[in-house]
Amino acid sequence: MTGPDHLSATRTFYDALAVDYADRFHHELSAKPLDRSMLSAFAELVLAAGGGRVADVGCGTGSVTAHLHELGLSAYGIDLSPRMVELAREFSPDLRFEEGTMTAVGQADGSLAGIVAWHSIIHTTDDQLPEVFAEFERLLVPGGHLLLSFQIGDEPVYLARPLGHPVSLDFHRRQPGDVAALLAEAGLPVQARLSREPDDRGMETTPQAFLLARKP
Ligand SMILES: C[S@@+](CC[C@H](N)C(=O)[O-])C[C@H]1O[C@@H](n2cnc3c(N)ncnc32)[C@H](O)[C@@H]1O
Repeated sequence: MTGPDHLSATRTFYDALAVDYADRFHHELSAKPLDRSMLSAFAELVLAAGGGRVADVGCGTGSVTAHLHELGLSAYGIDLSPRMVELAREFSPDLRFEEGTMTAVGQADGSLAGIVAWHSIIHTTDDQLPEVFAEFERLLVPGGHLLLSFQIGDEPVYLARPLGHPVSLDFHRRQPGDVAALLAEAGLPVQARLSREPDDRGMETTPQAFLLARKP
């Protein structure tokens, strides 16, 4: 699926799953010290570079947005799914959450000090990734940072009727080196990467990747 069909399928999927997603995953970060270490490093780098607005793109229920806020960043969230945005506002009523897509974030060139896309490029097809990374590069101030996370693998997984909901969606898995090469082509060279094994609580089935890039 490409273009608007793909966005529409992603929106429908997460609107249907939002409440179950929140139940299962909203508090996940507290059990993931390595993931938090990348968010902490990102926050420290953004603050050391002078701070500024940070977008959590594909924020879901906003757990990462809230964590970034706790780390001292001026963070807000954007997501395709109105239902996810609604829940994010309920969890964090003091933070800002907007409906939107990562290919049209609706901010001026160079207006963001940082961007986080936490397990949200996983529904973007390979041919659409350059457009997403070009948008991230456009939005970041020179010296701004980008943090990406995604599942490591070679083949997409098609998830049908999760928890009995009548929806389905592709989950794209990727190799960190391939994503790093695309980021470099977009003008966002990777500064650091973390790969870790799936957690031992059975919630993850693949290794996880975290890439920290910086706009020169
Ligand atoms: C697996 S969830 C991750 C949510 C959140 N980042 C987290 O870690 O809990 C993926 C989220 O990305 C959003 N998303 C996927 N593609 C998007 C796009 N092109 N633009 C904006 N949001 C998108 C989905 O609506 C969904 O809420």
